[in-house]
Amino acid sequence: DEIYLDGLRGVLPSLPMTSDDLRLSAEAAMPTAVRSYVVGGAGNEYTQRANVSAFEQWGLVPRMMVSPTRRDLSVDLFGMRLPTPVFMAPVGVLGLCAQDGHGDLAAARAAARTGVPMIASTLTVDPMEQVAAEFGDTPGFFQLYTPTDREVAESLVHRAEAAGFKGIVVTLDTWITGWRPRDLTAGNFPQLRGHCLTNYTSDPVFRSRLAKAPEDDPAAAVMHWAKIFGNPLTWDDLPWLRSITNLPLIFKGICHPDDARRAKDGGVDGIYCSNHGGRQANGGLPALDALPEVVEAADGLPVLFDSGVRTGPDIIKALALGATAVGIGRPYVYGLTLAGTDGVVHVLRSLLAEADLLMAVDGYPTLADVTPDALRRLT
Ligand code: FNR
Repeated sequence: DEIYLDGLRGVLPSLPMTSDDLRLSAEAAMPTAVRSYVVGGAGNEYTQRANVSAFEQWGLVPRMMVSPTRRDLSVDLFGMRLPTPVFMAPVGVLGLCAQDGHGDLAAARAAARTGVPMIASTLTVDPMEQVAAEFGDTPGFFQLYTPTDREVAESLVHRAEAAGFKGIVVTLDTWITGWRPRDLTAGNFPQLRGHCLTNYTSDPVFRSRLAKAPEDDPAAAVMHWAKIFGNPLTWDDLPWLRSITNLPLIFKGICHPDDARRAKDGGVDGIYCSNHGGRQANGGLPALDALPEVVEAADGLPVLFDSGVRTGPDIIKALALGATAVGIGRPYVYGLTLAGTDGVVHVLRSLLAEADLLMAVDGYPTLADVTPDALRRLT
């Protein structure tokens, strides 16, 4: 209503209202190196595009004579009642997309304003304690890129617990960086430049154990950090990961049902189906197409989902295919680029308003009504 009524009064939105316009405006505002890092993906970006177009293979079926004048989009996740089924996916080096360099704080403030949880990346520019302090009453989660040194990993997790994060999301698909031609072209490795390693460099265990990176040779510095940061995890590491926290433990990057089963058997609390937005492996299945089998294998565990979500209907489709909560990736980063916290709030609220209106028009009063029966495959 707010946006429609403002329009009638001649007050037009200052930020783009479609996901394509949002991306185009943000791209135009980004320096080349930042654009290649944020907008780009692996290989010729086939999987990245397929993630988005996969949503167009499904159509929602409207129900009549329901006319829900109020909709309930709330959802239970790890014992918490969240007002909406949406969260901000972890994005490293958000500082690159904020005028003042404090993009993590800006996104955390958007979480406080919207009730949409943020999963803070290991690679925040601001230390995790400062990010968590901005969440207000909205729960936040910490995403772990597991360092090779177990004691450093444990220290990061214990700091996250002390800072009040409500769950640990371990990303499994990025122990090594994928083939990203745009970053290669730009000579870009921004995620490994020193300024996004605050959570490591501010860590007492890290500082006591690991030598400083060579300062005069950027390539040597990157290789130094890569050694510390890229832990090639195997299933043998699961019991250890499970043992280091009592918080909900969520495995991110699961696309195969057997991996979901194995994670569940090993005691994780949540499965996060994602292909990293097509940034890691090209040639892969769209994450949405992996979702139904993963949900089935998760056998009742909550399943978080991201990769390719661009609209309100996309959110509803992922929920209908069994996701418990749906992650927004690049779109909120575009909002951040254009207008800081206000831009992130604009993106999240627009997506939620579109999803809510769709539930009204399509006759789905609650998320319990959004079942596989609401969908038909188009091809
Ligand atoms: C990411 N993603 C990511 N994931 C993660 O676990 N830790 C991280 O630090 C990052 N960093 C990151 C940076 C940038 C610039 C992007 C765009 C993405 C992946 C992210 O959590 C999510 O899986 C994807 O963004 C989802 O795909 P879409 O919706 O952006 O296409």
